[in-house]
Amino acid sequence: MQKLKIRGGKPLRGSVRISGAKNAALPILCAAILSAETLTLKNVPQLNDIGTMLKLLKQMGISAHREGETVVLNAANLTNPAAPYELVKTMRASILALGPLLARFGKARVSLPGGCAIGARPVDLHIKGLEAMGATITIEGGDIHASVFKLKGAHIFMDIVTVTGTENLMMAATLADGTTVLENAAREPEVVDLAECLIKMGANISGHGSDVITVKGVASLHKAEYAVMPDRIETGTFLAAVTAIGGDVRVTNAAPRTLDVVIEKLREAGAVITSTDDEIHIVSNTRPKAVNLRTAPYPAFPTDMQAQFIALNTIAEGTAIVTETIFENRFMHVQELVRLGAKIDIEGNTAIVKGAQKLTGATVMATDLRASACLVIAGLVAEGETIIDRIYHLDRGYDHIEKKLVALGVDIERID
Ligand code: UD1
Repeated sequence: MQKLKIRGGKPLRGSVRISGAKNAALPILCAAILSAETLTLKNVPQLNDIGTMLKLLKQMGISAHREGETVVLNAANLTNPAAPYELVKTMRASILALGPLLARFGKARVSLPGGCAIGARPVDLHIKGLEAMGATITIEGGDIHASVFKLKGAHIFMDIVTVTGTENLMMAATLADGTTVLENAAREPEVVDLAECLIKMGANISGHGSDVITVKGVASLHKAEYAVMPDRIETGTFLAAVTAIGGDVRVTNAAPRTLDVVIEKLREAGAVITSTDDEIHIVSNTRPKAVNLRTAPYPAFPTDMQAQFIALNTIAEGTAIVTETIFENRFMHVQELVRLGAKIDIEGNTAIVKGAQKLTGATVMATDLRASACLVIAGLVAEGETIIDRIYHLDRGYDHIEKKLVALGVDIERID
């Protein structure tokens, strides 16, 4: 199993180019299912999760060609509307195939995702929404079996804000008979990016970016070319790293407008941040100050940045209160940080982080994607050598991370 070896202590200097957003690319790849014509995607990140999604689409009979950051998909010959357990268990986002398959073929079998390291993560709202649109859904042998003659527009209220739930139902509604209204919809920028791509394919969608999305069904979607938005979590991770260890970094190909709350919190921690439309310049040369935060759906603080901010708070001046409201078990990184000398107590869904003067390198284990990013930040800050085990989690969501860090002057190496 591969590991990362980091020798911390050096400030980050230089520039880093942000890749396309994983969480926008995954639903957008599934949007290809909705059309018999070609979908050409640019700025697709080179990640294991993207590889898994392409594998999933190919085994359905979709042609998918990838060259660098461009992916060309054609679902004219899709014959197998199914997502098997072997793929779903490695990537929950496979559930995003369900809505599009049902909309275009009236039939789908998608393995039911189990719980995962950060929480139970049910998909009941995806299922209820599709049932409201007329689908018959049963769970047999661990699989979701869904069928419908033709989906019908419906008024759907989701009692929890769900990102992939909103995306699944929005995709399904594009080809339904009549109008669908999604209430309490997710407002995440990745939902907006998917909507923009679907509109380029001929869908009739309005209200995306607000909590009420209206989709008027059309007969078919056509060919399109679309560039995936920059990854706001990758961007936030680099910004948090600079704030923690210090330095002067230019972050290019970014979308600062999607990171308002994160940038605000980093300024509160002491970083000096300026930005243009697609670039962020960050300078940090003092010990960060502790920042409190509470995760919640967009535009509030993203749960996918919580772990990285805990890492930042471990060496900050003062004590931070970090509350996680989205997932019930998203503090697995805390015990690993404690191995590096961090002082953190957990009370229910709150972590109380007392800033230490220093962390000391040790061997730690990545438990999920964003926990891995948090351990990388801690490794950059720690004195001596930190070894991070199980970095396959990191490769799921961070495009060429060690190459990007080496270019910023970090002493980091991948070892077997
Ligand atoms: C997406 C992101 C993930 C991010 C999360 C929250 C992708 C591929 N993944 O995950 O990185 O951390 O949003 O911003 O985009 N819930 C239900 N029933 C459902 C659906 C969700 O109870 O049917 C609950 C979940 O258990 C969780 C909360 O709703 O507590 C939010 O989850 P959701 O927004 O659905 O997360 P994902 O879409 O899986």
